[in-house]
Amino acid sequence: MAMSKKSDKKKKNAPNYSPDMLLGPKTSFQVTESYKTLRTNLLFALAASEDAELKNVFAVSSSLPGEGKSTSSANLAIAMSQMNAKVLLLDADLRKPVQHKLFGVGNVRGLSGVLIGDCMLDVAIKKDVRPNLDLLTSGKIPSNPSELLGSKPMLKLLHELSGMYDYVILDTPPITIVSDVLTFAPHTAGILLAVCPTVCKHDHLESAIEGVKLAGVNLLGAFLSNSMNQSLGLSYNGKYGNHYYKKYGYQYKS
Ligand SMILES: Nc1ncnc2c1ncn2[C@@H]1O[C@H](COP(=O)(O)OP(=O)(O)OP(=O)(O)O)[C@@H](O)[C@H]1O
Ligand SMILES: [Mg+2]
Repeated sequence: MAMSKKSDKKKKNAPNYSPDMLLGPKTSFQVTESYKTLRTNLLFALAASEDAELKNVFAVSSSLPGEGKSTSSANLAIAMSQMNAKVLLLDADLRKPVQHKLFGVGNVRGLSGVLIGDCMLDVAIKKDVRPNLDLLTSGKIPSNPSELLGSKPMLKLLHELSGMYDYVILDTPPITIVSDVLTFAPHTAGILLAVCPTVCKHDHLESAIEGVKLAGVNLLGAFLSNSMNQSLGLSYNGKYGNHYYKKYGYQYKS
């Protein structure tokens, strides 16, 4: 069947996630070192938030879509697992999950299934996707991501994972678009913000930081990413509407 021009273009422009995007032996020295520097700074920030309820659990988020959250959280998880810490990467983006694609694993069982009691945590976790690194993918996309992430089972799960791992890193949706991350983040050590300067303008960042503060979430810090995201149509001029975000799977915050 012939594909319409519109869906053809969408497919062509969609980011192609694969394990090649992850830190490995072929990664350049600069990129590897950048992640190690991020890791070191993050460890200082985590040490300063030791009063948090879940002091070894944190989320990676951003103001807007396509700022490099998923790629960076995956690589940060790898960098942290390389210092002999037992790490879990959790795909808590229940709208546009990609961690299973980045690591080249299945996504039939995952977070959503665990939260609704459909599968056991032990079965859902993909063990040793890298040495010292386990992955809990999103599972099937639910109709109520925000409610699931803000639910009691989610908090219970985070407590359980916090006891099982040295660090738990959550990949999440963008803050100014949906409130998903802010529903559970107050219980964690905080949020680390990915900021892509070609995507995120001052106002967006300010609004994300304000949202974080209002929700009583600790801001662990921010890092510059270079998602070079022309492919997601982010070369906009500051005006965007509901249609824009629906197109990429996110809805406006209600
Ligand atoms: N540091 C980087 N350098 C170059 N390209 C990058 C970098 N980080 C991410 N990208 C690319 O930018 C695109 C978006 O990255 P990614 O999916 O990690 O962003 P995201 O913030 O998770 O997006 P979303 O809001 O859709 O979840 C992808 O095509 C990815 O390959
Ligand atoms: Mg993402």
